[in-house]
This record gives sequence, C-alpha cells and structure tokens, in this order.
Amino acid sequence: MELTNTERSPLVRIPTGIPGLDDMIESGFPFPSVILVSGTAGTGKTTFALKFLAEGAARGEQGLYFTTLSEPTQWMLRFSSQFEFMRPEFFENEIVYEDLGNHLRDGDSAALLDAIEKRIAEVMPQRIVIDPITVVGEMFKDGYRQFLFDLTNRLKNWNATTLVTGEVRPGELYPPEISYAVDGIVLLHMAEELGSRRKYLEVLKMRGTNHVTGKHSIDISRKEGLIVLKARF
Ligand SMILES: Nc1ncnc2c1ncn2[C@@H]1O[C@H](COP(=O)(O)OP(=O)(O)O)[C@@H](O)[C@H]1O
Ligand SMILES: [Mg+2]
Repeated sequence: MELTNTERSPLVRIPTGIPGLDDMIESGFPFPSVILVSGTAGTGKTTFALKFLAEGAARGEQGLYFTTLSEPTQWMLRFSSQFEFMRPEFFENEIVYEDLGNHLRDGDSAALLDAIEKRIAEVMPQRIVIDPITVVGEMFKDGYRQFLFDLTNRLKNWNATTLVTGEVRPGELYPPEISYAVDGIVLLHMAEELGSRRKYLEVLKMRGTNHVTGKHSIDISRKEGLIVLKARF
C-alpha cells in the first residue's frame, strides 16, 4: 500500500548538541528513540553524552544521566566542569545525575529496570543517558540480553531520546547484543596515523533517516567538547 503525504508525517527530531552531526542526520536524533554511541576507551563517548545533555539543558529540556560506574557526583562534576560548554548549575536542575552502581552489585536485573524506570517517572526527562551500558553486561552475564530487550521496550514508553554508550575492545565496532535493539548507531573510532591518534565519527544506522555514511574526523576540545570537522578537499 502506497502511503500518501498526509500519512507520512515527518519524524520529530532534536538537535544532538554535536556541531556538524545534525547536518549528517537530517537535523537531529529522532524523538523519541534509543541511540547507541559506541567506541573504545577514550574515543569521546562520555563527552558526546555530556554535550547531548548540555544542549537539551540550554533549550530548557530536562536531562537524566545514569552512570553505571559507581562514580560519586562530585567526581563527575569535577571532570565535566572542565568543559566550557557545561555549566555547573545545569547539575542543580536541568541534568539529574543518578548512580546505578548499587543495583549492579546486587545482580538483580528486574530491580535495576525498576530503579531506572522509577527515576525516569520522577524526573520526566526528554533526554536520557546511560553511560556505559556495557558495564551491565559484565555484571549480569546471562541475564544481559533479556535486560537489554526489556530496557529498550520500556524506554519506548517514555517521551524521550535515550543515548546509551557502549565500550568495545580495540578491533570491535559495537557491542552486537545491543545493536539490534536500538534505533541508531553512532561509532567513534580511533586510528593511528603518522604516529598520532586521530578520532573519527561514523553514523552506521539511523532509522527513518537519510544519513551521511563514512568516517568523519572529529576533534575534542575544552571549549566545544566533541565536534565533527567539515570535510576538507
Ligand atoms: N578538555 C579536553 N581537551 C581536549 N581533549 C579532551 C579534553 N577532555 C577530554 N579530552 C579527550 O577526550 C578523551 C576522553 O573522552 P571520554 O569522553 O571520556 O571518552 P570515553 O567516554 O569514550 O572513554 C580524553 O582521553 C582526551 O583525549
Ligand atoms: Mg566514558
């Protein structure tokens, strides 16, 4: 059956907060959706997530940042305040920080899901981050796939765009057990060229979106966080 123009309504999109990325994905992440940002250690996943939340905060949207690393709030604030784009007062209101470490130690995936959902219901965010989701896999082992399935299904009931970060080993692109469950995959790569490490971003998948393909150079700086550099010819 052919859809008419009225039936084919455009997706609502929100700006990613990453300069240069919106132009690659028809002006932003679908809202609502679940997006995976994947890369090895130090490729900029947390920086990406912070920019995503800071962009929302600057627009008056509510953000909710779940860490799985058992890091105290002060620790997180100390690092994130190094970035000029991140205003410390965001963490008083616009960005709620929540540590999931205790629930991970119990190894009870139903309790973890409930904790995540309860906090979302309280905060009612438009932007959610879970950083990094792959730690849950290391703690839960067998129950991990079921957890991911349940998590992404529950996230779809909320009016939010959720960014989950996945840490992979060198040589791996993304955690395969997560990829099928998400609406979009953004890869962050690191490559050694002429003795220096260069970083790249690649949009591998973005449902409903005519996205740009291929690797694009990125830069991480104190001022702007993570930016996609314009291609130079
Ligand atoms: N202020 C900064 N200026 C330049 N580069 C930075 C700055 N802060 C972080 N970086 C770079 O970003 C990397 C860490 O990024 P991060 O987002 O924590 O990565 P990941 O979460 O993928 O491990 C650092 O190793 C460093 O290379
Ligand atoms: Mg990180």
